[in-house]
Order: sequence, then C-alpha cells, then structure tokens
Amino acid sequence: MNNKQTDLLSFDQQHVWHPYTSMTEPLPSYLVESAIGVFINLASGEKLIDGMASWWSVLHGYNHPKLNAALIEQCNKVSHVMFGGLTHEPAIDLCKTLIEISPAPLQKVFLSDSGSVAVEVAIKMAFQYWISKGKTSKNKMLTVKNGYHGDTLATMAVCDPVTGMHHMFEQVLNKHYFAPAPQIKIDQPWQAEDTVELEQLFIAHHDSIAAFIIEPIVQGTGGMRMYHPNYLKACRDLCTQYDVLFIADEIATGLGRTGKLFACEWANISPDIMCLGKTLTGGYITLAATLCTNDVAEVISSGEAGCFMHGPTFMGNPLACAVANASLSLLLDGNWQQQVQAISSYLSKNLLPLSTHQRVYDTRILGSIGVVECTQKVNMSRIQKRFVELGVWIRPFGKLIYIMPPYVITAEQLACLIKAITTILEEDDCFITET
Ligand SMILES: Cc1ncc(COP(=O)(O)O)c(C=O)c1O
Repeated sequence: MNNKQTDLLSFDQQHVWHPYTSMTEPLPSYLVESAIGVFINLASGEKLIDGMASWWSVLHGYNHPKLNAALIEQCNKVSHVMFGGLTHEPAIDLCKTLIEISPAPLQKVFLSDSGSVAVEVAIKMAFQYWISKGKTSKNKMLTVKNGYHGDTLATMAVCDPVTGMHHMFEQVLNKHYFAPAPQIKIDQPWQAEDTVELEQLFIAHHDSIAAFIIEPIVQGTGGMRMYHPNYLKACRDLCTQYDVLFIADEIATGLGRTGKLFACEWANISPDIMCLGKTLTGGYITLAATLCTNDVAEVISSGEAGCFMHGPTFMGNPLACAVANASLSLLLDGNWQQQVQAISSYLSKNLLPLSTHQRVYDTRILGSIGVVECTQKVNMSRIQKRFVELGVWIRPFGKLIYIMPPYVITAEQLACLIKAITTILEEDDCFITET
C-alpha cells in the first residue's frame, strides 16, 4: 500500500465508526478501491470474490452499466426534491412495480431511507391504525425469539431479547411479547406443536397486541434459521383470528433471495404490512419501502391526525428510485429464478457435504443462501484476514460462516468461496476454543 492509503486507513481506525466495531480496539478494515461484477478490489491489490452481496443487497453485481446509467441519467434531471407536496416519475414507477409484484392486498407504499426505518414505519403504522380505531390498549408488539429487525430503538425492541441488544438497553426499550423461535426446519416434517406457545400468547394478550412481526422463512442475523412454511401460515391465521396486524419483514428475504420473489410465497400468505430494503436498489443506494393494505391506509387516514405521521427528508429520493427501477427491470426481465436455482444446486452439491467435518455442527441452504454453522465461534480478525488471503470476501459472525452472493456469480466463483471455507475449517487459529 502507498502512503496515502496507509494514511487513509490510519485516520479510519482513529476516527471512523464501523458497524459493531470498537473505536478503541478496532478490528482492521480493508480499503476498497473499486468493485465490479462479483469482485471487490482492495487498494492493497487483492481481488476478492464477494460472498456477502454487501449484506444481502447486491443482486446484479457491482458497477453495473445499466444501474450506473440510470443513476447518471437521473442525476442530470433531478437528484433530490422534497416529497411533501412534490412527486416524480421514478417514485411513481417504483411504487407501481412494487404493488404489481407484491401480494395483491398490498396497495399502498411508504418510501423511506433504510431497512430499520421501514420497520419503524411498519410498527408506527400498526400503532396508529389502532389509535385511529380508538383501541389504544393495542400498543404492544408480538414477535418470535431469534428475530432481527434493525438497530433503531423501536426495531431493537422486537429483536431477539437475548442475542439482540435488549439486555444492555433494558431500561430504554419498550417491552413486547416474545414467543419461542420456530423450531421445525423448512425441510422437516411439520408438527403443529411448534405454534402452541405462540397461540397462547395470542389468546392471552391479543387485546393489547397491535401487530405481529416476523422475518418470513429465514431468520437472518438471529442465526440464519430456515423454518417451516406452515409456521408462517399459522402466524397469518392467528393474526386474522385475533385481530392483530401481520408485518412481514422481507428486508433480507425479498426479491428472490430464498428462491421465491417474496419469502411469504413459501406459505402462500399475504401480510397486512410488508417491509423491503437492502436489495431494492440492487445494492447501489439506501432505500426502503413499507407496503400496506387499503384497510391499514384508510383507517390511519380516517383517524384524528388525518394522515400517517411520518415524513423523512429523503423520502422517495429520485436517484434511489431511478436505480431501484433499473434494478427491478434487470431482475424481473432477467432470469433470476434460474440464477438463484443454479446457486442453490451448486451449494446443495458442494456446501451441504461440509456437514461431515468435525468442526461443523450443521449446514443448510435455501435459495441463494448457504450456511455453515460451526461448533466453535470464529476468531474474527484471523478468519477475516485468511479469507482475504484466499481471495474471497466472507464475513462470518458467532459460529456462522454464511454466504449469499450476488445472483450473477458463476459456478467457478462459487467454487472459490466453498474452497476458502473448506480451507478455513482446517485452521485452528480461525476459531476460538472455549475453556
Ligand atoms: C430482516 C431485517 N430487517 C431489518 C434490517 C435493518 O435494515 P438496515 O440495516 O438497512 O437498517 C435488516 C438488516 O440486516 C434485516 O436483516
């Protein structure tokens, strides 16, 4: 690395927060020079195959000519205008597409800045819905353990109470109801007992529950757990039976990642409110959407306020909407199903067999997601360094080494990811021995 690059990294270490990283003893960050296709190019010269799709967001690869062109074209028209009292074609087109492709009852779209904000919006919609109906006692959320819905205060309060941040923020967070996490895996025979405790919570507390929130089919950050579609179906039925709004957080699973366009399709259900983010712009710019039914929108609008009480400054940003439209066109006019199926078949043949390794507790896949759950926690700084040396970008957490690459990845590139994981599994110093 040259002097400038060394200075940049040194400043970064001393002054720039990174996600979940100490400011006094930071793990190293790697300086990125550029990225193209599935490759992230480091300033130090390494060319890494991206196994993470930059946290579930990149679908068509980096530096895509059509996405670049959409951004530049929009830039030359208008980069941003306030959304209060003004509107524009990129946002209208985007909302039209989202309504067309999402479950039919979802007819209204609220655009926002990030996944966490989309979930905040969903929770707030649910609360305002019941306030508007005069049922102010319905002011709690119900969810399941092992969930993850974001890092802001309202979303933290519905994240897993043990592995999430409840413990530390106990005095600050609102208290909600938690059912056990779904136990029956997607490929196991269904057993109705899995929803018994959840049903008991509905029975006991439905008068105080505004909404139930869940990540459909895959619980991501809370353990990369893939659960049975009948569980999701039961959640929908319980919400209907007990007059509770159903929020599907499709921020990680939406737009094809699980092999269906929306993970709700695994159970053939439709939520009352659905959150999208991450993949919405193909990984280009932050943008999220909260969709809801006519009923939710009409009740809120007929209430005391006469409107939904939310309005971020960068709501419906034209650049983000334009690139989202280009990304959705690429996705919907392209062959995403074959791409995801090809990744799935490859992982099935080459990642699942790692389950016999003595360091592996379990392997699982769904769509383009592959997970190797180890018996030991990873040594983050060491394993990250080794993955970089092996030419891949994979960022594990806890005991989980997982990949969800851009859909355009080839079999040869997938082979490099699996080879790197296989190599790492042999290296004792990439894991922490608990004493
Ligand atoms: C299911 C789910 N919901 C919400 C979020 C929060 O999204 P963001 O990080 O864009 O705020 C995430 C992020 O990982 C997520 O996986």
